[in-house]
Amino acid sequence: MCGIIGYIGTKEALPILIKGLRRLEYRGYDSAGVAVQDKGVLQRVRAVGKIDNLAEKVKDHDIGGTVGIAHTRWATHGGVTEENAHPHVDCSGDLALVHNGIIENYRELKEKYLAKHIFQSQTDTEILAHLIEENYQGDLRSAVQSALALVQGTYGLVAMHRKEPNKIVAARLGSPLVIGVGDHEYFIASDTSPMLAYTQKVIFLDDGELAEISKEGFEIFTLRDQKISKPTEEITWNEAEAQTNGFPHFMLKEIFDQPTVIKDALRGRLILEDGSAKLGGLNMTVEEIQSIKRVILIACGTASYAALVGKNAFERLAGIPTTVEIASEFRYSDPIIDRHTLVFGISQSGETADTLAAIREAKRKGAYVRGIVNVIGSTIARETDGGTYIHAGPELAVASTKAYTNMIAVLLMYALEFGRSNRLAIATGERLVRALQEIPEKMKIVLEQSDTIKKMAEKFKKYDDFFFLGRGVNYPVALEGSLKLKEISYIHSEAYPGGEMKHGPIALLSKDFPVFALLTKNSLYDKMRSNIEEIKARGAPIILIATEGDAQALALTDNVIYVPTTMELLEPLINTIPLQLFAYHMAVLLGKDVDRPRNLAKSVTVE
Ligand code: AGP
Repeated sequence: MCGIIGYIGTKEALPILIKGLRRLEYRGYDSAGVAVQDKGVLQRVRAVGKIDNLAEKVKDHDIGGTVGIAHTRWATHGGVTEENAHPHVDCSGDLALVHNGIIENYRELKEKYLAKHIFQSQTDTEILAHLIEENYQGDLRSAVQSALALVQGTYGLVAMHRKEPNKIVAARLGSPLVIGVGDHEYFIASDTSPMLAYTQKVIFLDDGELAEISKEGFEIFTLRDQKISKPTEEITWNEAEAQTNGFPHFMLKEIFDQPTVIKDALRGRLILEDGSAKLGGLNMTVEEIQSIKRVILIACGTASYAALVGKNAFERLAGIPTTVEIASEFRYSDPIIDRHTLVFGISQSGETADTLAAIREAKRKGAYVRGIVNVIGSTIARETDGGTYIHAGPELAVASTKAYTNMIAVLLMYALEFGRSNRLAIATGERLVRALQEIPEKMKIVLEQSDTIKKMAEKFKKYDDFFFLGRGVNYPVALEGSLKLKEISYIHSEAYPGGEMKHGPIALLSKDFPVFALLTKNSLYDKMRSNIEEIKARGAPIILIATEGDAQALALTDNVIYVPTTMELLEPLINTIPLQLFAYHMAVLLGKDVDRPRNLAKSVTVE
């Protein structure tokens, strides 16, 4: 959702801020703004729509200066207007600030200060500018601390003041902020992506912390002004990974990244001779592993479909009853959790508000809580007592692709490790390890069919509705394929287990309602085949994902995409890729904004 970048150093701030905003575009936004100060003048420019609009607009202003802040806004309180875009300023125009999060008591506060201050927007954020103004006596840090003591809600806040030109103050509660340490320059941002071009040395702020940054260095305090020291961390992601590398869209690049990044997820974690896996971050002894009677996988969206694949694996390999919980439901339920329960919070961004709240609830109830996360240093990674990075690298398209397959890879390895600590035979473990090692090459075989899948999309682009069907391991694949299609091409689609069609949905079938079905050679092949016969009998167009060499598939339809065979539990790693490609090509053919679909945000940090 909203994004923040701030800069203080020796270079011109404006180009760094505009470039930083472009790096934050992936999060989803509807307006943007920048404020830079120089020689006692603080200038602010804001624009609705794309960063290009802002970049054009700043050309009309002569903006110099080496200190500045900028923001991409995803509207929550107040419409998409220039007045509501950040940075917001106080009445004097001396103070400018950007904010991610929600100030819950802004109405009461606004009411209280309405007579004394001039409010220019409908946002919850603007009250922060006026509260800081109320408390400002020549020291921005202390004014921010006093102001924040009055607010309820969440914030990642970055402020600067014309009277203190060599200073940026940032504070965090519930909305991430990270300081980047460059060469005589410092960055402050909502995630590391806008600073990767300049530095990989970072300090993650935790909730309740405030940073005072100048050109000479920075200090960190609590909101009660206790000074604290924090280690600098080195992040492994780099600028090159965050580029499209010649692909027309991030999404396509990320789909094609999969054979490479899955190797990164598997590297050093598989132990062939033991037929097992070892995930260092689990932080549990063998006895603790053996004491686990129940696994709960908590996630949202695509991550929850990866979790469904993980459920299958935990139950089949480790024999541990496993449930998948949608985080937004779980957090308000009354889950039965005890010290024999292991909870995994699964999240690409590591910032999803619902997932975060759900794992906090699980922690409170005494479960072991671990994270399966992509973004290094993200809140879920920091709030869990261990876990695993999926090593998918930066995923910048809103529609998740490579994070999904890497989440599955990590879940499979966890299930294997638990299985081998319980009942799983070494021979089965070995087979699984070998099959996992073969996955990257098999993914490449599927990717080679991108053009064929594009032709298929061309043929089917006239349809308004789709069903996606799968059974067993392929049901989560169907769910994910359906989600991808609706997210980026805005085509209505629904996913069902193949056997469920006859209980209602089959009524919708007609020659205008195509069905995308997963018919790979696994234990449910014959059952799925019968389901597809039922569909064929009703005249609906069919597209099949089938196993290489399965000639019978062609008897059901001409539209067959063949995929290499693998162990049944691993099939989602292969079978999802054609569906990702189908959704991608469909969206491109329909002229949609593939990487930044309407209404969606990459990192969903509000409830
Ligand atoms: C995926 O394509 C979606 N954009 C969305 O469902 C996403 O998976 C979900 O919001 C969870 O995000 P997370 O993995 O960052 O927690």
